[in-house]
Amino acid sequence: MISTQLDNRILTVAFDRADKKNAITNEMYLAAEKALLEAADNDEVRVVLFKGEGGDFTSGNDLVDFIKNPPSGDMPPVLAFLLALARFPKPVVAAVNGLAVGIGTTMLAHCDYVVAAQDARFKLPFVDLGVCPEGGSSLLFPNMMGHAKAAELLLLADIFGSEKAEKAGLLNEVVESEAVLPLAQKVASKLAVKAPNAIRKTKAMLKQAYLSDLESRLAEEIYSFRDLLDGPEAKEALTAFMEKRKPDFSQF
Ligand code: COA
Repeated sequence: MISTQLDNRILTVAFDRADKKNAITNEMYLAAEKALLEAADNDEVRVVLFKGEGGDFTSGNDLVDFIKNPPSGDMPPVLAFLLALARFPKPVVAAVNGLAVGIGTTMLAHCDYVVAAQDARFKLPFVDLGVCPEGGSSLLFPNMMGHAKAAELLLLADIFGSEKAEKAGLLNEVVESEAVLPLAQKVASKLAVKAPNAIRKTKAMLKQAYLSDLESRLAEEIYSFRDLLDGPEAKEALTAFMEKRKPDFSQF
């Protein structure tokens, strides 16, 4: 589930499903989208802070949902969430502990300040699931880190640590795991007392050059993702996950 809490003009949005490592369902995407849309219009909210409950940020999209409720139509919940995040006009801070898989990593490229634990683990497992990247990462990552690094992370899909994530430009600060949330809250508190219109104008201008390309790419990625998810490579990958074995792509 998604839980929210508003304190001192900071809206904390938590991935709150610890028994599944905070895997995100369609229902959760819609709840997170709603929280962002309401926060954008609410003067009581100056900053949004994303975190995960129970020691992990998120293990990414719920793989059971991929089978039961795969993305469909023009505006699947994951796309609605990503568009709301990309367009969100106020600062977004993320506190990353434990696992940040799939969208748990790609969404960081939309955040304005990211604090991660020294022992946090990141993974972009898309090709190993027989699908393509999402979250605008095919556009944002090469710009942030160069083609070679982006290709390494997205094509090899290996798990990587905070040192690599920081070098790739995904993180602002790497600290002990207990210090992650307090530091993210401290940064959010600093942002929450600054001149709100100046902050919004500055954020808008930082994104001005690429926001419209990003919106198109977010949709294009999800439509390709949806089509690939319907194909044989993804079927093998998801069956392998359910059977707790490695996928075998040798037949394709
Ligand atoms: N979707 C659905 N369920 C998930 C999940 C996901 N993305 N990630 C974890 N879970 C579930 C596991 O199935 C398990 O459920 P169970 O207790 O009913 O068997 C539970 O959460 C705990 O996960 P587990 O795999 O036992 O933890 P682990 O520490 O050994 O491994 C991961 C953690 C994240 C490496 C592993 O769960 C994984 O690879 N998950 C899939 C990640 C992924 O591909 N996400 C999609 C991105 S597009």
